[in-house]
Amino acid sequence: MGFETRPYTGLADLWEMRRFLSQSRQITGLAPLWHPGDASWRLFLQSRDGDPAQNMNLWYAGGELAGFSGFYVYPTGRCGLDVQCSPQVRPLAEAMLDWAEQRWSNVPGGRLVCDSGVCELDSSFIDSLERRGFQAAGDRPAALLLTAALEPGLPAVSLPEGFAAGSLAGAEQAGERATVHRAAFESQRMTTQAYERLMSWPGYRPELDWVVRAADGAIAAYAQAWLDEANRCAEFEPVGAHPALRGRGLGRAVLQFAMRRLFDLGMHRVVVGPVEAELEPFYRSAGFTVHSRWLEFEKTR
Ligand SMILES: CC(C)(COP(=O)(O)OP(=O)(O)OC[C@H]1O[C@@H](n2cnc3c(N)ncnc32)[C@H](O)[C@@H]1OP(=O)(O)O)[C@@H](O)C(=O)NCCC(=O)NCCS
Repeated sequence: MGFETRPYTGLADLWEMRRFLSQSRQITGLAPLWHPGDASWRLFLQSRDGDPAQNMNLWYAGGELAGFSGFYVYPTGRCGLDVQCSPQVRPLAEAMLDWAEQRWSNVPGGRLVCDSGVCELDSSFIDSLERRGFQAAGDRPAALLLTAALEPGLPAVSLPEGFAAGSLAGAEQAGERATVHRAAFESQRMTTQAYERLMSWPGYRPELDWVVRAADGAIAAYAQAWLDEANRCAEFEPVGAHPALRGRGLGRAVLQFAMRRLFDLGMHRVVVGPVEAELEPFYRSAGFTVHSRWLEFEKTR
């Protein structure tokens, strides 16, 4: 089967990629393809660092979008790849891996890593990787995709006195929301200007940007949700709590508040991850269970 490929050109492509993921997940379920929210969030992060047109390609089969692939060179010299391939056009995954390895052959980096992890359930992709000399990195625990059903009778939200849950009203709150994100992730990179950009990004909706506020109005914890409306499946990305207010149940409370609202919005399920395995107790405390383990596959030369 012949494929056509071209570089990513901008937000119209991101909308198309989101539609592709949503349609494909009607066939695959929760894995191995990204939730549409992952496409929005990851391309937002990439666009903050550079131009996704340099490292992301869309792939077509019979004129229809059948997947997309990424190849990245990081300042450390490590290289990364992403493969998002239609379950109906599996040979395309080989063409995407050829494409990534061809790019890798032109740069000095000694390691090529499957960036968003490889789902343990995706045996045909694991076979392809192993045939090419990739190996699962055994030195750290697999990341976890977690999920929770949204149904009547979700737990009541329990907040310490003085705290209140809600969501953002709009772009005028970009600054305070960016501030707590920087604190939660100990990173200076999410500026107010960057957050304003995120707020205009495909799939972002301020009413899905849930927060718990302290009595003085400062944001203490947050959980941002993205919707896959066709599959009635939401995703949380990212989730954070201010370091000074951790361990008081605020992270769990913002998730539980958001889950009740997402159910009211017609969502039947929510996912998070793949996240570091050490976060499993946190998400379990909010009602999530593990869907699958995600391995880090890499090739070295
Ligand atoms: C993860 C995070 C949001 C937790 O927020 P928090 O407000 O401290 O969490 P809570 O107080 O609501 O914790 C609820 C439960 O999860 C557990 N928990 C919280 N963080 C945990 C962690 N990092 N590892 C293991 N368990 C954790 C708590 O012990 C608590 O358990 P309990 O019900 O038995 O008391 C916060 O630590 C954070 O912002 N981390 C940095 C950003 C991050 O990693 N985000 C998640 C990935 S997107």
